[in-house]
Amino acid sequence: MNSSSDRSSRDDSVRHRVVAIDGPAGSGKSTVAKRLANVAGLEYLDTGAMYRAVTFAVILRNVDPEDSVAVTQVAEDCTIVQHEDGTVTVDGVDATVEIRGSLVSSVVSLVSSHEGVRRELVSRQRQWVRTRGGGVLDGRDIATAVFPDALLKVYLTASPEVRATRRTSQGSSEAQTGNSDTNDDYERVLLDIQRRDKLDSEREHDPLRQDADAYLVDTSDMTIDEVVALLSNLFDEALRSISD
Ligand code: DC
Repeated sequence: MNSSSDRSSRDDSVRHRVVAIDGPAGSGKSTVAKRLANVAGLEYLDTGAMYRAVTFAVILRNVDPEDSVAVTQVAEDCTIVQHEDGTVTVDGVDATVEIRGSLVSSVVSLVSSHEGVRRELVSRQRQWVRTRGGGVLDGRDIATAVFPDALLKVYLTASPEVRATRRTSQGSSEAQTGNSDTNDDYERVLLDIQRRDKLDSEREHDPLRQDADAYLVDTSDMTIDEVVALLSNLFDEALRSISD
């Protein structure tokens, strides 16, 4: 096999093993994506955590989040590692709790709206998949911009009220840190979710939207187990369709 056919067969196998899960905050994306990755024997990448990690670095370095040049520089400079045990380090500093806190949550939509930040993180996401030959990724633009040829595309959603309830009742250990969304009362979380939905879906670059080929799954009245079972069946079907 010459090197160009080597490359194209590798690209093909990568394309065939990518699961793209998009949706708004609180739709259950990360829990479902993690569980699906386990079932499917793939690795999982939380792309929201990458945007949160850059936001953490922007805050730490006292950079104005409106300054797209400076914020892009931070995104290009910073080293983000998602460890197997779930911890996230930014330039070697453990930021696992802080990236979920209300300060980062209030600024992350602004930081992620800059074109340069998206260019850098999308490139890292594609690299992550290339080195693994596939994976399950969740975010806002995975099906529409990062992997438009993903094997399986899913758009998870739920009503804002259901999502706010999940966010306020989830992760009691986080709440004990005094530095997370879970500490906030329901009304505040609901307002923050609505604000972020608006910013994420109305931004100029790669806004949150359902891809034309994505399965729409409204999780409002579903358990996590039901959603994982549904996606697992869709994944098996998609695999069968390419092996036929
Ligand atoms: O999924 P999350 O709530 O952790 O994401 C945090 C923010 O990051 C979200 O408000 C928008 C941004 N984001 C993005 O723009 N693109 C992605 N692929 C993932 C997240």
